Amino acid sequence: MYNVYEDLISLYASHHVPVGNRYKAVIKQALGKNLAYATSAMQGLATTIFSSPSMVAYNLLQNSVDEAKGAARVNLIADRYASGSLKDKMKQHVRDELKHSAQFLSLLKVTGVSDYTFEGESNGKAEAEKTLDFDDELQKFICRVHSIEIRSWTILRLYMQIIQDSPNPQLAAAIPVLEKIMADEINHVLYTGQTISDWIESDPERDVASELLECFAFTNKETWHDMAQMSNFLAENASEMLIAA
Ligand SMILES: [Fe+2]
Ligand SMILES: [Fe+2]
Repeated sequence: MYNVYEDLISLYASHHVPVGNRYKAVIKQALGKNLAYATSAMQGLATTIFSSPSMVAYNLLQNSVDEAKGAARVNLIADRYASGSLKDKMKQHVRDELKHSAQFLSLLKVTGVSDYTFEGESNGKAEAEKTLDFDDELQKFICRVHSIEIRSWTILRLYMQIIQDSPNPQLAAAIPVLEKIMADEINHVLYTGQTISDWIESDPERDVASELLECFAFTNKETWHDMAQMSNFLAENASEMLIAA
């Protein structure tokens, strides 16, 4: 499994993004030892889902909706509270996530599944409008986004690894698109991390640390719930969708 803290520090180094020691200490604590998405439970669930083209199709649709929701949230907070270069980066982030929403949909063809009639399927844009009922201030929002982007980056690495190891060769066609998405997710990790690091280093009195810890704990719990939903989906659909080994 991944050591997300060490991989993250290497990511900053390889992209020449400077982050401070105070940030490193807090993010080490925030990532902790019990990240839901870095467990063998997540690896097992994801591997099971990737064994079934129908389940991959369902997962792609979910990802498409989630990307559109993420874009809508970043856009709202960028317009409301951000300025200068941070606002520019957030607006680029919005464009990236909308592009990912379309890219995940474009990958449906790789699954070979042509009738997408899963419960919960919905139009990405309509869903996005339902997600704007919140109002975080900028610091809390960037901390939350940072936790989500580190998760997206790690889960995407996991998905690519599973596809590379998969006995199903048709999924390999998804890799070039996933690599493009990955490059953007890495940028999202880097700019949110650098922003938080700058806040912490420029004003040690500013209470970013406790907010960061809270946001990472929240995202971690949310991820366990997402995994429970994946299990529920398997409970409802495994008999039709899982191909016997
Ligand atoms: Fe994305
Ligand atoms: Fe992202």
